[in-house]
Amino acid sequence: MNPASLDTSASSRLNLARTPTPLEFLPKISREMGVEIYIKRDDLTGMELSGNKIRKLEFIMADALKSGADTVVTCGGAQSNHARATAIAAAKLSLDCRLILRTADPSAPPAPTGNILLNCMAGAQIVWITPEEYRRRKNIFQREEKRLRQQGRTPYSIPEGASNALEAWGYIRAMAELARDISRLPEGHARRTTIVVATGSGGTTAGLILGTRLLDLNARIAAVNVCDDRDYFLEVIGTICDTAITTYGLDIPFERERDIDIVDGYVGRGYALSRPEEMALIIDIARREGLFLDPVYTGKAFYGMIQELKRDPCCFGERIIFIHTGGLFGLFPQAGEMTPLLS
Ligand SMILES: Cc1ncc(COP(=O)(O)O)c(C=O)c1O
Repeated sequence: MNPASLDTSASSRLNLARTPTPLEFLPKISREMGVEIYIKRDDLTGMELSGNKIRKLEFIMADALKSGADTVVTCGGAQSNHARATAIAAAKLSLDCRLILRTADPSAPPAPTGNILLNCMAGAQIVWITPEEYRRRKNIFQREEKRLRQQGRTPYSIPEGASNALEAWGYIRAMAELARDISRLPEGHARRTTIVVATGSGGTTAGLILGTRLLDLNARIAAVNVCDDRDYFLEVIGTICDTAITTYGLDIPFERERDIDIVDGYVGRGYALSRPEEMALIIDIARREGLFLDPVYTGKAFYGMIQELKRDPCCFGERIIFIHTGGLFGLFPQAGEMTPLLS
């Protein structure tokens, strides 16, 4: 498929992200690892609306408006980047926003720092729930939708991380952008590229896999999971890909075991929990490359990529593009853990 024709095959889209984002070379890390490493700056898709989520929300919010909704409802962890992007996109589009966020003790919610502060400033209404309730979030969504309807509102629910078949178009389109980036690099598409990305709710990886197949690119998508494990992501990403293929009639070969490539083993202490070595790498990259990774997603994925390269410098081939999916605001609530490492 021609990259230009992707736009017309997708569902309707709002123009919210600042794209194309830059592709930058990381000279010092590349020299040290003996492999070309580039970074796709999707942390620069906007300021408040930064990161990967906004590419997805371009499609989701278009669908919400088309459905006549006046309130969007979504969920996530306390410092969810997706929740923040949704709250800000909603404010921009004059929609109300209700966020169902997870915290250990809803009677004493976390301080309004990082993404929580931005959610509050954007006027989102936050409903705090326990991790146990979060596991039954389908019921909580139904409860909130019912409440909103009783108040005369028209809700539109967005899944965790905005990951579903519709949002996959966000990273199918991004793959077309990456294809143009790759064509400008030495040896262009003749040299195989490995695209390394963090995976959390699976939608970004699903879009990249589908985009690679649709454009028939000489690329491997290697996803570093920041929670759960390989089997979990085979199921989650596989379901998004299968649903998108059926819903949009995509004529592409896809097999879960063959096409979903999970680099497992770097969850560390767990989702949104960092180890000192991960924090130390984030500081090191900031000092050496002037580049800021976040602790929850990109810091973990970058750490995983570097460990894999140390084990086998050829494991990703000659050229890597690491996608910086954003998340910078999540750095500030973890300042306490980082401070002892700063000297
Ligand atoms: C900064 C950042 N990077 C990566 C991801 C992972 O993307 P996905 O949820 O589509 O797997 C997320 C969200 O989960 C995120 O907020």
